[in-house]
Amino acid sequence: MSRPLSSAACKGTATDMRYRDLDWKALWQEEYRHKSRPRRKPGDWDRRAGDFAASHKESPYADEFLARFNWQPEWTVLDAGCGPGTLSLPLARRVKEVTALDFSAEMLAQLAKEQTRQGLTNIQRVQAAWEDDWQALAIPPHDVVIASRSLAVDDLPGALAKVDQWARRLAIVSDRVGAGPFDPDLFATLQRPCEPGPDYIFTVNILYQLGIQARVDFITLEQDRVYPNREKARASLLWMLSEPPLSAAEEARLEEYLDARLQPRPDGSWLLTRRQPARWAVISWSK
Ligand SMILES: C[S@@+](CC[C@H](N)C(=O)[O-])C[C@H]1O[C@@H](n2cnc3c(N)ncnc32)[C@H](O)[C@@H]1O
Repeated sequence: MSRPLSSAACKGTATDMRYRDLDWKALWQEEYRHKSRPRRKPGDWDRRAGDFAASHKESPYADEFLARFNWQPEWTVLDAGCGPGTLSLPLARRVKEVTALDFSAEMLAQLAKEQTRQGLTNIQRVQAAWEDDWQALAIPPHDVVIASRSLAVDDLPGALAKVDQWARRLAIVSDRVGAGPFDPDLFATLQRPCEPGPDYIFTVNILYQLGIQARVDFITLEQDRVYPNREKARASLLWMLSEPPLSAAEEARLEEYLDARLQPRPDGSWLLTRRQPARWAVISWSK
C-alpha cells in the first residue's frame, strides 16, 4: 500500500517511502553540498585562533555544556577539536586527565598559553585531525570523548563511529541547531542565501541508524556579544561570510548591519546584538 510522505508529496505522486528507507548519510551529503562556504582548513583556524579564544572567554557555552554531565575526578577525557580549550581548560579542574586534540597548531598554542597561565598540568595536547589514524597516533580510549562544535568532516558517520569507539563510558557531540552561530539577519542584510549546511537533526538520525539512541539537550546562547572594537566585531562577521569575497555593495551592507546592531559601552568596548540567539544541540550517549 502506498503512503503519503507529506502533504507536499500528496500534491504530486504518492510515495512508498518509509522512515527506514531514508539514507541519512546521503541526505547529509546532499545538504553539505549546498552549504555556502567551503570546509575550513587548519590554516583558516590558525588565523581565527586568537579572536576565537578572546571572544569565547566571555561566553556561557562552556558552563552550560559542563553543567549537563556528572564529571568524575577519576575520568580521562578526549576533547577532539578542542580549539583554544573552551572545555579542556575548565574540565582539567574536574577530571583526572584531558587529551586536547586539534588540527590547528595555533588553537593548541592558545590552549598552551592559558594552560600555563592557570598552572594546569593534566592537559596533554595532540596536533591531529579527525581523519588521522588515531590508533597509529597511539591515542588510547578515554572514559569520555567530546566533539564540541568541531565535527567539520566529510564523513560524519565515520567520525561518529570513531567517537563511539574511543569512548569507554560517555560520548558527547555538540552540533548546530539550524543556522547556529550564523546570524540569518546578516545574510538577509547582505542579500546572500544563508546555507549553513546540515545541522544536528542529521547527526541524531545518523546515530540512530548506527544503532545509537542518543539523548538530546539544547543550549541557547546570549544574543549579545562584546568586542573590544568595531574591527573585531566586523572580523567575526566576515568569518561567517568567508566565501565568496564580499562585493563593494555587500561591504556597504555589512557596514549598515554593524551601524544598526553595534552599540558602544561605557567601558569603551562594543556590544553586537542579534535578533535570533545561536542554539546548539548537545547529543550524548552512554556506553
Ligand atoms: C568552532 S571550534 C570549537 C572549539 C571548541 N571545541 C569549542 O566548542 O569552543 C572548531 C575546532 O575544531 C577544529 N577542527 C575543525 N576541523 C577539524 C578536523 N578535521 N580535525 C581536527 N580538528 C578540527 C578547529 O581547528 C577548531 O579548533
